[in-house]
Amino acid sequence: MRIRTLNDYTTAYRQSVENPENFWSNVAERFLWQKKWDKVLEWDFHDYKAEWFKGAKFNITENCLDRHLLNKADQVAIIWEPNDPSENEVELTYRQLHEKVCEFSNVLKSKGVQKGDRVCLYMPMVPELAIAMLACARVGAIHSIVFAGFSSSALADRINDAQAKVVITSDGNYRGNKNIPVKDVVDEALENCTSITSCIVLKRTEAKVTMQEGRDCWWHDEVSKAEKTCQAEVMDSEDPLFILYTSGSTGKPKGVVHHGGGYMVYSQYSFSNVFQYEEGDVYWCTADIGWITGHSYIVYGPLLAGATTVMFEGVPTFPDAGRFWEIVDKYKVNTFYTAPTAIRALQAKGLEFVNKYDLSSLRVLGTVGEPINEEAWDWYHEHIGKRRCPIVDTWWQTETGGIMISPLAGVTPTKPTYATLPLPGVQPVLLDQDGNELEGNNVQGNLCIKFPWPSMIRTTYGDHERCKQVYFSTYAGYYFTGDGCRRDEDGYYRILGRVDDVINVSGHRIGTAEVEDAINMNESVIESAVVGYPHEIKGQGIYAFVICDENSGKDNDTMLKEIIATVSRVIGPIAKPDKVLMVSGLPKTRSGKIMRRILRKIAEGATDQLGDTSTLIDPTVVEEIKEKAGV
Ligand code: WTA
Repeated sequence: MRIRTLNDYTTAYRQSVENPENFWSNVAERFLWQKKWDKVLEWDFHDYKAEWFKGAKFNITENCLDRHLLNKADQVAIIWEPNDPSENEVELTYRQLHEKVCEFSNVLKSKGVQKGDRVCLYMPMVPELAIAMLACARVGAIHSIVFAGFSSSALADRINDAQAKVVITSDGNYRGNKNIPVKDVVDEALENCTSITSCIVLKRTEAKVTMQEGRDCWWHDEVSKAEKTCQAEVMDSEDPLFILYTSGSTGKPKGVVHHGGGYMVYSQYSFSNVFQYEEGDVYWCTADIGWITGHSYIVYGPLLAGATTVMFEGVPTFPDAGRFWEIVDKYKVNTFYTAPTAIRALQAKGLEFVNKYDLSSLRVLGTVGEPINEEAWDWYHEHIGKRRCPIVDTWWQTETGGIMISPLAGVTPTKPTYATLPLPGVQPVLLDQDGNELEGNNVQGNLCIKFPWPSMIRTTYGDHERCKQVYFSTYAGYYFTGDGCRRDEDGYYRILGRVDDVINVSGHRIGTAEVEDAINMNESVIESAVVGYPHEIKGQGIYAFVICDENSGKDNDTMLKEIIATVSRVIGPIAKPDKVLMVSGLPKTRSGKIMRRILRKIAEGATDQLGDTSTLIDPTVVEEIKEKAGV
């Protein structure tokens, strides 16, 4: 099953296309099922549905944990590195992790959590986050993890959309030299959430928090009362495993829903093959579990494969810019998986932070989340991988559940900035504006997938129409990724970035509409338009053009600060605009549509490429904006 050579890859790929059901059924055979499937796949991309391993019964945690108790109970499953390097690390063996998950499963049950209930996790990067996640899966509850940097209103929106019953959080959250009062954020959110009946609080920072009688309880108190064994709930392959909210071009973030069976099979298959994981390796993915990368490649993929996975609570620059490399050295990490934005940020700090540490344990390097520029790729290759380690540039999405286009480490010859070739089972196509498939090589178009893969999005929570609309209506019969892409003369894929109104800031997806809605909540704002622009470290930055009420009596500086504060409050600091420009008008067509294309060019400073502005109601606004932007 494991691909070891380019030949193996070619064969596997061919088989996966010629007979997908047979291919995936062979892969799935290796997992622990209570009952095998009646049918491998049923699908329809016109009236969207995809069902994998239909009729199969299982529990993903028996595959992540129980299965390994036979032969690797004492192997370390999770190594946890705290934010502050002077605090002790924690190592949990598979046996210990199993026990803690069972224990916490019983806590969830004692709070009335049943199969199908939604549980929201708003937590720091501590082992208890993985434990809580797996405990949800064990009792058949659907976890919805919200990145703990989101604001209380963003958290409330997500809790309400999922109608979560329980929320799990901590008294505080250490990140670098900050101590974030997350429980206060939860308290504020819960003022507007009626579905929550219990809030379980983990003690992490000893910050003083208020505990609401009848609703709030301490993690440690509950666990001390819980039994240490818990039978896993029998789940159907097509029962939901988790919801993860992600931004799109329009509207509020949507809850991407993944179902257990297909997700399990694909997350382990892709993990083992892309990283070429070997028994005994130490693997480290630096993502936060609040994002899909953390779900699939810190927790599920590695644990399914019986790997040792490192979890890091802190940030790359605390106490200094050598932290990542110190951790690689400390645990003799073999595989290191991070985002281009982190590479660029650390590259800018200089080699003295790298050269202090022994990085000879590294064998495979990976990147994810955004296109990697050639300078960053070269630096990573030369200074971190010492030209010995293949770099896997992995392209995928929250919706795809797992890595879709990527080199397999040491198997696929790499080329800087190219995600290279699709994994077995993945059938990418490039479409032109009219929806024609572009044949052959040396072509560029919109990236779509024309055949289902096991870990694909099943629905958007509570609104299947939206799922069909967003992903399956742009091009009938295809899953549309929202990314532009080039296929070069070797048939290699290079992702060019989003072609819709989504900005990729430091590898995080932010919808322009979401930021505009937030800015517009400031009462002195009349209208706003947000676009992305190239940013040296973040990949893309957020540029906001704002029309303010002249009678507000506030000067520019005050407005600027207020707007940034408003976005932080409504969404969270990650969506704060990098640049705000006060303008008196926006370029609009006669039908009232803002021509973002023009704003994008101004934000880029490419004013010679503004194109035709004659269809604007008032072309003079463009001159004003150019002047104010200083371009
Ligand atoms: C972008 C993250 C170029 C892309 C796993 C995609 C990438 C969006 C790459 C999904 C890559 C992700 N090269 N672009 N290797 N990986 N992207 O849902 O635009 O947070 O659509 O999933 O990130 O972001 P998401």
